[in-house]
Amino acid sequence: MDGLNKPSIRTALSSVPVSGIPRFQAFDLLATLVAVVRTNGTVVFANAALEDALGTSRRTIEGSQLPDCFTEPLILQNALEGAGSNEFAALRYDAWLRRLNHEPLPVHVVVAQTDTPGEAIVELLPLEQQAKQEREERLIDQAQANKELIRNLAHEIKNPLGGIRGAAQLLQMEIGKDLTEYTQVIIHEADRLQTLVDRLLAPHRRPHLVGDVNIHEVCERVRSLILAEFPKGLKVTRDYDISIPDFRGDREQLIQAVLNIAHNAAQALAERIAAGNAQITFRTRIARQVTFGKQRYRLALELHVIDNGPGVPDSIKDRIFYPLVSGREGGSGLGLTLAQTFVQQHHGLIECDSVPGRTDFKLLIPLP
Ligand SMILES: Nc1ncnc2c1ncn2[C@@H]1O[C@H](COP(=O)(O)OP(=O)(O)O)[C@@H](O)[C@H]1O
Ligand SMILES: [Mg+2]
Repeated sequence: MDGLNKPSIRTALSSVPVSGIPRFQAFDLLATLVAVVRTNGTVVFANAALEDALGTSRRTIEGSQLPDCFTEPLILQNALEGAGSNEFAALRYDAWLRRLNHEPLPVHVVVAQTDTPGEAIVELLPLEQQAKQEREERLIDQAQANKELIRNLAHEIKNPLGGIRGAAQLLQMEIGKDLTEYTQVIIHEADRLQTLVDRLLAPHRRPHLVGDVNIHEVCERVRSLILAEFPKGLKVTRDYDISIPDFRGDREQLIQAVLNIAHNAAQALAERIAAGNAQITFRTRIARQVTFGKQRYRLALELHVIDNGPGVPDSIKDRIFYPLVSGREGGSGLGLTLAQTFVQQHHGLIECDSVPGRTDFKLLIPLP
């Protein structure tokens, strides 16, 4: 059994007894989408990643025609026939995978023969995966750089502030009453800056209180806070997967993170709240075999906060997680920076997908 020593997909496949689905179980551990098909196109097995990508269950996929999952079924049909008649060992091409409720996914298709006659293995490599991974890595590096910059800058501002305020107070005692208006401005502005700086430094100073966190408790808490502030015209819908397990984390930090996101959504919904048709949805799901940042995770929790507001303004779309970037009159631009920092302290990531009418902030947190 030389196949056991060589970790290639083809030999691994043939070295395991043919006894139904368990034969292919190892494919479920791959992030790549994999299907084992008969050369007439019938799916014998679809792995978990493919199931996820297609948005349908394995039971639905198995037994169906794999070529029908593509925008151009003929190419795969021909390729499979070629594999059946031993025309090649492996064939590669680019195609579009059709998905339920989603845009088609661009993939690189690899069709390979297996050692079982009449059977082929089809591997699909999402083309956007590479780009997405790079984007996420950039996001994390950027957040790290932001954090350092903020901390240093905040300290640089904080130090002289005390002096400025003190000097203004002394000056106020020396000069006549008619001029205290000016010294008051200095003192007031110094205090405002002090508050801002304290807020900038807060997330980095605060201890990480670790305990068991239930994500739905977090959502419920945020939901009641938001509804207390916006009692009319706003519906907050829950769509929970209650099988999500508790995980170790800082509950208060996560409440703050989700609250910042939900609060932004509610603010963006002002017009719809007035019209009485504003909606925010909290949706939780389990994601399997996900890659974000530079890490692969077997299980992760996905929390979507979705609103039906006007969307993030295009002018700041790429920068909303930066500190001090705000699209609102009087906004601090710190809400999302803080939320991202808190979620990253849980080794997670926040992503935003926004078009007018539907803004989706997705929190990803690895589960044990
Ligand atoms: N759900 C949303 N819909 C539309 N715009 C949003 C949404 N969430 C955030 N934004 C935009 O991102 C900006 C930055 O948000 P944030 O970091 O919380 O700062 P602030 O709320 O103080 O402006 C907001 O000012 C807003 O323009
Ligand atoms: Mg905000």
